[in-house]
Amino acid sequence: MDTKSDQPATSTPPPMSKNALKRLRKQEEWDAGKDDRRKRRKEKRHERKTRVRDERAALIAQGVDPAELKKKKQVSTLAPVGIIVDCDFEDYMMDKERVSLSSQVTRAYSDNKAARYRSHLWVAGFNKGIAKRFHEVLGDQHKNWKGIWFDEGDYISCAAKIRERMSAADGSGGEMIESLQRSLDEPCAWTRDETDPFPIPGPEPPLDEANKDVVYLSSDSPYTLERLEPNTCYVVGGLVDKNREKGLCYRRAREKSIRTARLPIGQFMVMQSRQVLATNHVVEIMLKWLECGDWGQAFLSVIPKRKGGKLRGENAESEGGDGEGADGEEDEDQDEDQDEAEAEEAKASENKEEDAVEVETSTNVGDEGKSGAEEAKETQA
Ligand SMILES: C[S@@+](CC[C@H](N)C(=O)[O-])C[C@H]1O[C@@H](n2cnc3c(N)ncnc32)[C@H](O)[C@@H]1O
Repeated sequence: MDTKSDQPATSTPPPMSKNALKRLRKQEEWDAGKDDRRKRRKEKRHERKTRVRDERAALIAQGVDPAELKKKKQVSTLAPVGIIVDCDFEDYMMDKERVSLSSQVTRAYSDNKAARYRSHLWVAGFNKGIAKRFHEVLGDQHKNWKGIWFDEGDYISCAAKIRERMSAADGSGGEMIESLQRSLDEPCAWTRDETDPFPIPGPEPPLDEANKDVVYLSSDSPYTLERLEPNTCYVVGGLVDKNREKGLCYRRAREKSIRTARLPIGQFMVMQSRQVLATNHVVEIMLKWLECGDWGQAFLSVIPKRKGGKLRGENAESEGGDGEGADGEEDEDQDEDQDEAEAEEAKASENKEEDAVEVETSTNVGDEGKSGAEEAKETQA
C-alpha cells in the first residue's frame, strides 16, 4: 500500500512575498483604525453642525436672512459636453479597488453637481459589482441623485443618448459657454507628436465616423488634448488598477475605432510621479477647464499635492521631471477612497435606520438634506 496517499495532505502554504506581507500589514493597520476613523467622522459631523448653527445665528443677529443668502449661491450651468465614466472593467479589479471606484464615482457626481459649468455625466456599464454595491451597500442613494445617469449599456450607447440630449432643439442640451466658444476659434483640438510611437504597433484603423464626437481619454494615447470641444463626449475609464493594466483603455477605444487623447499634463506641469490620474480627478480637471479654459490652472487645482506637480517655468527645479512615480501613491488614493467609502456606508446605514423610523412613525417628512456624496466630501474636507 502506498502509505503516502493515505496521509491527509499537509501542504504548507507558500511563503508570502514581501509585497503581499506589506499589503497584509497595511490592511491590518487600516482595519485596526476603523473605530478611530468612525469616531473622528462623528466628531467632524458634530463640529460642522455646530459651525453651521453658529453661522446661522450670527447672520440672523446681523439682520440677514440665511434663506435669502442660500438662494444667491453660485448657479450651475449645463454645458454641451458629455462625460462618461466607463465602468465596464469589473474583471480587472480586486474587491477593494471596486470599493475605491464607487467612491470615485460618488465624488465625480458631487464635483459635477457643484461645478460652475456641469456636464452631462453618465456612468456606463453600470450592471455588475459596482451596481450591486450602490444598490446593496450604499442603500440605493444614487437613485435620488440628480444630473447623473446610470446606464447598463456600454460607453458608445451612452454617447448616443447624450448626443441626442445635447442636440435637443429647445436648447436644453446645454449653453455654449465662454471656454468652449473660445476653443472653437482655435485650429485643432488635439495634436500628435510624431516621435511618440503608437502603444500598439501598426497603423491605427480609420475612425468610426458615426462616433467621431467621442474621445476616450487615456494616458497611453499618442494624441494630446489641446482643448475640450462642444457637443463631444469624453470617456474616462472607471478603473482602479495601480497601472497593472497599462494601455487597456487605449486598446478598448482602438478596437472600436474611437478617438483617444491624453491630457496635456506634460505641457503644463513638471511631475515627480506618474501622469496617470484617478478617474474622479480626470473628471474634475475637465470641469475646471470648462470654468477657466486653462489647463495649467485646472491641473494645479486638482492634481494631488503629493504627486509633486509644479507648473512649468514656475519654481520647477527640474524641467525634465515626470518619473514613473513613487510606489504607493495609488495606495494613498485608495486609502482615502476607502475612508470615504466607510463614511458613505455609515451614512447609508444611518439613512436606512432613519428610514425605518420613518416607516414606523409614518409622520416624519423624508430628509431632503445632503446626499452621501456631499456628506462624504465634507467629511474628507
Ligand atoms: C487610473 S486610470 C486607469 C489606467 C488604466 N491602466 C488605463 O488603461 O487607462 C483611470 C482613467 O483616467 C483617465 N486618465 C488618467 N490619467 C490620464 C491622463 N494623463 N490623460 C488622459 N486620461 C487619463 C483614463 O480614462 C483612465 O482610464
